[in-house]
Amino acid sequence: MPESFSHIPVLPNEVVELLDPQPGEVYIDCTAGLGGHAAMIAQKVGPAGTIVLNDMDEGNLERAEAAVRDQMAPQSPESANVVAIRGNFAQLPQELVKRGILADMVLADLGFASTQVDDPERGLSFRHSGPLDMRMDRSAPVDAAELVNTLPEKEIGDLIKHFGEERHGRRIARKIVEARELAPIETTDQLADLIRSAVPYSKGPRSSIHPATRTFQALRIAVNDELGSLQLLLRSVGIGVKKLRSGEQGWLSDGARIAMIAFHSLEDRPVKQSFARMNEEGLVELVTRKPVGAQDDEIGNNPRSRSAKMRVCRVLGSAAG
Ligand SMILES: C[S@@+](CC[C@H](N)C(=O)[O-])C[C@H]1O[C@@H](n2cnc3c(N)ncnc32)[C@H](O)[C@@H]1O
Repeated sequence: MPESFSHIPVLPNEVVELLDPQPGEVYIDCTAGLGGHAAMIAQKVGPAGTIVLNDMDEGNLERAEAAVRDQMAPQSPESANVVAIRGNFAQLPQELVKRGILADMVLADLGFASTQVDDPERGLSFRHSGPLDMRMDRSAPVDAAELVNTLPEKEIGDLIKHFGEERHGRRIARKIVEARELAPIETTDQLADLIRSAVPYSKGPRSSIHPATRTFQALRIAVNDELGSLQLLLRSVGIGVKKLRSGEQGWLSDGARIAMIAFHSLEDRPVKQSFARMNEEGLVELVTRKPVGAQDDEIGNNPRSRSAKMRVCRVLGSAAG
């Protein structure tokens, strides 16, 4: 892996083991990020393989493409079979069908990359002062400031409660509305201070998470429609298998392995339920019956891996399996 990586891919060995890349296969990375996973798979599929990179963050997509090209063909990176597609993975399956690409492996490593959270200008973290933005796609029309400053109080409360699993959602919404009546809330630290003043967190061992953590998660999920996109991608898996069986142009090959890595229960639950439903319908077999998590040594090197949960299934191209 190139030395310049600052984003450490989670569950690297588990991803390679369970996706089981073979020379010449086609790998689709729905969330290319900095290309960490993709570069590892590129090594395995070799020069006859194809790597499709998707990300809605233009900067990350460019970095991922450069990293993967270097890995696949260090002597002549431009000759590597790498396809970069900028956009939301919710639309990726249709794009693949249009281009006639059939996936042997699919990975969605959900959430955000270190480049995004560490950049104060992205407004993703309350640890850095920055504008209340939170868009992973910087051309998207709505940012977090717009939600915080325009949504009715009840909607803000519901959003924080449901997407942040924050029991103090109503209280925080009240504070937000009181504050914005005086002046718009424009920065991450303004919002974090407001939340701190709204929430009765105690000091002590159980208060290890910052009081703003859940609210920031909720806003990020809403701004980027993260759960809606995930549902669409999951739905496209079922459609892809049905098309494969009926001989129509789809996007999944027989035996394709599909891996999804979630970082909180709102992401993991739909993946679990969707894989289970498709398994009951005989469309896929479950490669993992329980989610795969990081080992202690990985968690020591990469704290973000602590909450990672990966589930993998395999496409059954015919009803008999
Ligand atoms: C956790 S990082 C992926 C890291 C990558 N696996 C690696 O090894 O470098 C998640 C990436 O997915 C992108 N992303 C998140 N949701 C997306 C979506 N719905 N469509 C496209 N890209 C998305 C983010 O912009 C970010 O770059």
